[in-house]
Amino acid sequence: MLKGLQATDALGVCLSKVLEPGSLLLLSGDLGAGKTSLTKAIASGLGIEKKTVTSPSFAIIHEHLNGRLPLVHADLYRLGLHADITETGLEDYLDGKNVVIIEWAEYMKDQLVEMALKIDLSFFDEQSREVCITGKTGIWNERLLLLDDCMKASKGP
Ligand SMILES: Nc1ncnc2c1ncn2[C@@H]1O[C@H](COP(=O)(O)OP(=O)(O)OP(=O)(O)O)[C@@H](O)[C@H]1O
Ligand SMILES: [Mg+2]
Repeated sequence: MLKGLQATDALGVCLSKVLEPGSLLLLSGDLGAGKTSLTKAIASGLGIEKKTVTSPSFAIIHEHLNGRLPLVHADLYRLGLHADITETGLEDYLDGKNVVIIEWAEYMKDQLVEMALKIDLSFFDEQSREVCITGKTGIWNERLLLLDDCMKASKGP
């Protein structure tokens, strides 16, 4: 449970610490569940100025190159259900060099779940959101433990 935007911020900063070149994050969830907010927090953890991270729903893809890792932020909302990412150029960024974050990933026709970390956000009430994080491949196991430690530490003793 993420109680307030500061909890989403804490999750984003902790997530940013476990990302590596090639990390792929698939964000899904209701309108206004906090996907862009979480992306902003991850970006700020990577050293990218938060205010430069805006919803790429019209452009579909935004690239941020001034952080610890290059961040590619995509939003498939405008493409609708069964989005074909081969038409967006997004695949070119899945070359193992970038951190790629995709909002509305549930719209993707071909789910890239094998290598990705899936983050499902949902609207709980005005003041809080629920989050469910799943990583299928083994590479995420250790990183999710580190994420857990970071989240516990951020809540204080
Ligand atoms: N954990 C939270 N608790 C309370 N409010 C939150 C939380 N996370 C985000 N919000 C608020 O929810 C609103 C919508 O957030 P955001 O734009 O990030 O959602 P989104 O999932 O990207 O929406 P869209 O589906 O339009 O892309 C913002 O006003 C943000 O401050
Ligand atoms: Mg958004």
